[in-house]
Amino acid sequence: MQKIIELQELVNKKIVSNTYSKFPQELYDPLDYIMSLGGKRLRPVLVLLAHHLYSDKHEEALDAALAVETFHNFSLIHDDIMDDAPIRRGKPTVHEKWNHNTAILSGDVMLVKAYELLVNYPSEILPSLIKLFNKTATEVCEGQQIDMMFEKQANVREDEYLKMIELKTAVLLACSLEMGALIAGAPKVEAERLYEFGRLMGIAFQLQDDYLDVYANPEKFGKQVGGDIIANKKTFLWIEAHRLANPEQLKILKHWENISVFKAEEKVAAITGIYNDLEIPKLTQEIINNYANKAFEILATINANEQAKALLVKLSEDLLVRET
Ligand code: IPE
Ligand code: IPE
Ligand code: MG
Ligand code: MG
Ligand code: MG
Repeated sequence: MQKIIELQELVNKKIVSNTYSKFPQELYDPLDYIMSLGGKRLRPVLVLLAHHLYSDKHEEALDAALAVETFHNFSLIHDDIMDDAPIRRGKPTVHEKWNHNTAILSGDVMLVKAYELLVNYPSEILPSLIKLFNKTATEVCEGQQIDMMFEKQANVREDEYLKMIELKTAVLLACSLEMGALIAGAPKVEAERLYEFGRLMGIAFQLQDDYLDVYANPEKFGKQVGGDIIANKKTFLWIEAHRLANPEQLKILKHWENISVFKAEEKVAAITGIYNDLEIPKLTQEIINNYANKAFEILATINANEQAKALLVKLSEDLLVRET
């Protein structure tokens, strides 16, 4: 079996062989642009790895792998409009490089392309694949809507936040794993266990994404550091800071949240300073580890190719110390 990097290469080759470049260029160029910018290729690699737990024929999982990566990239194009993000994977976001209308429509066609890649699967598994994908895509939209509503909400509880990140992020990782297992013909209970592993790992993954949004090295991150603070995103860091702040710190937090004209770097520095004083990074790493450990417990109960399982463990461990 290959290493993770070889699976990423397999995905990248598939992406290159599947470029759209055609009329109207304004619709398809942004699609090829975002897909070619790289990224970790996490979701397609999860499809391939879950498939490999039960089968050696990677080829048969590649269309599904590309489908989930295409869906993911579609969600990123629209997410960057919603989050007013200037940079993605170290390059200008689609709506910055082109414009909002283009970003909306190119995103839309990518969703269709994702389905196009799925519909050729054999009729025995196609309904389960489509059902799972529909449920997941719907939940991602629900999570994204809740994320937007939370920006304007003065207070968000930890359980509400955890549900929101499960919807916007974790279910797609879970879906990728379950799809790989279904395509390989794995028993249903195994596929469902993999889904649960992915859901828990996905929650840890979004917690880490929130952490990196404040603490990443800007040279490596590929996104705007501090974007969540600027937008008043309700992250785990935000919730814990509000829970632990003394009255003076709370006053400062509220001040920055309530003013609409400010220098971005001053707001980011002030709020990061309070996060540091309250040791929020340590608390965030603790909850990340808790979710990752729960995920690993589930993975341990799965009966499958041990070598592929070891790769899945390695991939998950790498995610916990990632810098992008
Ligand atoms: C970014 O996903 C969006 C989130 C759900 C946090 P990734 O961190 O997987 O982004 P890429 O694909 O590697 O760029
Ligand atoms: C994005 O969450 C989740 C989806 C794209 C569905 P974020 O908004 O935190 O992702 P980044 O940080 O922009 O990649
Ligand atoms: Mg975003
Ligand atoms: Mg977002
Ligand atoms: Mg983020």
